[in-house]
Amino acid sequence: MTSLKDATVLVTGANGGLGTALVDAALRRGARHVYAAARNPKEWGDERVTPLQLDLTDPDSIERAAAQAGDVTVLINNAAVFPRGDLLTAPVQDVREAVDANLLGPILVVRAFAPGLLAAKGALVNIGSVLSWFAVGKAHSVSKAGLWMATNAFRLELAPQGVHVLGVYPGPIDTPMQPGDDRSGMSRPADIAAATYDALEAGEFELIPDAMAAKVHGALSQPVTALYPALAAG
Ligand SMILES: NC(=O)c1ccc[n+]([C@@H]2O[C@H](COP(=O)([O-])OP(=O)(O)OC[C@H]3O[C@@H](n4cnc5c(N)ncnc54)[C@H](OP(=O)(O)O)[C@@H]3O)[C@@H](O)[C@H]2O)c1
Repeated sequence: MTSLKDATVLVTGANGGLGTALVDAALRRGARHVYAAARNPKEWGDERVTPLQLDLTDPDSIERAAAQAGDVTVLINNAAVFPRGDLLTAPVQDVREAVDANLLGPILVVRAFAPGLLAAKGALVNIGSVLSWFAVGKAHSVSKAGLWMATNAFRLELAPQGVHVLGVYPGPIDTPMQPGDDRSGMSRPADIAAATYDALEAGEFELIPDAMAAKVHGALSQPVTALYPALAAG
């Protein structure tokens, strides 16, 4: 169980929809200090928040951030990209960016911050997605599936050393990552942030916060046609 009270939290992608909600909610729960990491850091107007430059596709920036923020006790890998093209035909740089930003980047972040997390017996939160288990997100799904497994692998390595690892797998959230005008059925970022910290404080290993994610997760043990019924029709 990890309390946010007096924690030192780092959120990647802090300027995004869920990232901002995670920063705000950490402060409301009594975090002593929050590093708001972003490609283009901004001022937050709160002395408890330190903006930090961190680009997940730039390993040097990850090392620099870890050197500046070695006191992090709760590390949140939140940032991600969602290129929309098909895996077969999208520009290969889009596929590479998804894997770099959504999978390799978070792995490098954990490796860079691990010494501090281990010393503090802190916690790691990786924000996955329902698309960790469902291929419609194409390159994004590929990268998020990898992050799901990396989260489980890190947990096996870190738990015996006292670091808790939480994986979060939401369905659609009303943030700039979601295109279009129809926002119905989407979770509010503030609700996912609150559920994330509730799960962390309760010592959960996974958070599956909505019905869509629970349904897809439940279908994983069934034949592949349960998730992709069109295959059975053909
Ligand atoms: N929205 C959904 O429906 C949904 C559903 C399930 C899971 N999630 C997950 O929730 C997390 C947060 O996404 P969101 O919905 O809040 O989307 P968002 O508003 O688009 O935020 C994503 C953030 O990631 C940052 N980012 C992108 N590439 C980066 C890089 N190379 N280095 C550092 N930061 C980078 C972006 O930075 P800039 O501000 O510089 O662009 C942005 O602030 C993601 O992991 C996403 O996969 C979202």
